[in-house]
Amino acid sequence: MNQQPEQVRFNVPSLEGRELEHVEAAMRSGHTSSGGPFSQAAGEIIREETGGAGVLLTTSCTAALELSAMLLDLQPGDTVIVPSFTFVTTALAFARQGAKVLFCDVEPETLAVDPAHVAELMDDSVRAVVLVHYAGVAGDVSGLSDVMASRPEVALVEDAAHGLFGGWKGHPLGSLGRFSTFSFHETKNIVCGEGGALVVNDPADLDRAWVLYDKGTNRRAFMEGQVDKYSWRDTGSSFGLSDTLAGHLLGQLEARETIQAKRRRVHERYVDLLAEPCEELGVRLPVVPPASDPAYHLFHLLLPDAATRNRVMQEMREEGVQATFHYVPLHDSEGGRRFAARPTECPVTTDVSSRLLRLPFHNNLTDAEAERVTEVLLRALRR
Ligand SMILES: Cc1ncc(COP(=O)(O)O)c(C=O)c1O
Repeated sequence: MNQQPEQVRFNVPSLEGRELEHVEAAMRSGHTSSGGPFSQAAGEIIREETGGAGVLLTTSCTAALELSAMLLDLQPGDTVIVPSFTFVTTALAFARQGAKVLFCDVEPETLAVDPAHVAELMDDSVRAVVLVHYAGVAGDVSGLSDVMASRPEVALVEDAAHGLFGGWKGHPLGSLGRFSTFSFHETKNIVCGEGGALVVNDPADLDRAWVLYDKGTNRRAFMEGQVDKYSWRDTGSSFGLSDTLAGHLLGQLEARETIQAKRRRVHERYVDLLAEPCEELGVRLPVVPPASDPAYHLFHLLLPDAATRNRVMQEMREEGVQATFHYVPLHDSEGGRRFAARPTECPVTTDVSSRLLRLPFHNNLTDAEAERVTEVLLRALRR
């Protein structure tokens, strides 16, 4: 009988602190909807870490991006520049608010937005540029700021789904955009199953953000005793994270130093094991520019070509190691073509997306698992 090889799983969400205790307390308290004590405590940690004017916990990073898009009051004819190398909803959030998308390419080193391409795409229709920190590493933020300096009315939206606790030139990721968003989906560093946050960095946006967040009403002002009844004021939706999930999130956030240290250790273990052989084999390890403090969200390699990537990924899976690819280029997708303002060329995205391989990466990946992953990988690469 064929024995199944032992699996090294791609992601394993874990309990790292008082998550169960907080979830039980939230459920017993009778306040399980949004805006309860656990939401307030979790939101306050994120606010302190990012220095934002306010933090609104949402049901996902997608929802936080949608709330950003609503706050921009996009009109027909408006466009938003979004990297092609990102998750679908980085673009979809703006498309569903009626904007057309201009897909821009990424830099080959960091896989972050390429400021030179943003400069080429910039025209009078552009209302926002979305920045993504791939793997939790900031790219050329200075270059992008220079391009945007002559257009101060264009909003910078920071999709920091991977970026919590990373930094750029000493600034926390999540503090760079007018609006910044985080994800607490089960694959992220800090998780609560499904969850997210909008960091509002300009205090002038905060009151309206709470109205749109709270079904278009001024309920928050009412809860804070500023008005004696609340009513419908504006557009909006129901974006709030349940306090039960906020209990889960708070348990994770309280353990943030442990979680980040564990992830850093796994990252460093992979680098130790792979730096030399990968150089010989023409495989590129993640690049971290000197200005960036990584958030240690994921570990990716760039293999020499697409055929090698596909073969190696398949062989690793056959040996029980759950390696995977990341991001199918959006500019080339059916939805991307439908929502694009016009076709744009993103050759770096097309190239890296065909060669990128993600290794299993989570808080409690053991040294033995990291060694097994790298042995299986190097064997496949040498075949
Ligand atoms: C860059 C980026 N933005 C947004 C999202 C969406 O996050 P969520 O699943 O919390 O909506 C993801 C998901 O992985 C992502 O990678």
